[in-house]
Amino acid sequence: MKGIVFTEFLEMVEDAFGYEMVDRIIAESDLANDGAYTAVGTYNHAELVDMIASLHQHSDIPVPELIRLFGNYFFNHLHSNYRGFFDSAPTLFDFLDSIHGHIHVEVRKLYSDAELPSFETKDLTPSAMELIYSSERKLSDFALGLIEKAAEQYGESVQIQKELLEKDGSKVTFRIEKL
Ligand code: HEM
Repeated sequence: MKGIVFTEFLEMVEDAFGYEMVDRIIAESDLANDGAYTAVGTYNHAELVDMIASLHQHSDIPVPELIRLFGNYFFNHLHSNYRGFFDSAPTLFDFLDSIHGHIHVEVRKLYSDAELPSFETKDLTPSAMELIYSSERKLSDFALGLIEKAAEQYGESVQIQKELLEKDGSKVTFRIEKL
């Protein structure tokens, strides 16, 4: 997983809980470089999972909620750094529909070693759509957090229902309906 994901995660922890918490979760997790990440480096995604588990223990916030909140936080980074993808998608549904065939394709060109999920769009209508997430990293709550913020960014009110297609969370469907 790209270093930018780790650096943004640690920044979120610092903003929300303070630097002592950053120190504590780095010390408690099994990290190859003791938490020294560079944005363009590539690291084992299990390190992120370890740090989230440690943060959960100290904050009492459930793991899925922490991952969703991280998705909310990471969205700001995406929106500030990749404006073009938003400009070329006039609505939320256009944007979500473009992740797999366009956005993540461009990401892969920039970072050939990026570990990206796969998305399939189903039943795309003007008022509802289904987005099917598949990834062995099982980060659908991160996707949920990103989708929530994308809706806010487009000024569109939506209801998002998540359903597991695989029990382990490696395949999930999001039904997104305009309110
Ligand atoms: C401007 C738009 C976007 C850009 C530039 C972008 C880029 C990226 C990058 C760089 C990664 C990390 C790859 C790695 O660590 O190897 C990533 C992962 C991921 N992206 Fe996107 N992304 C965008 C939008 C979205 C949206 C809207 C969603 C949600 C529906 C999404 C879902 C995910 C998920 C869940 C991962 C984690 C990896 C996994 O689950 O396997 N992305 N993306």
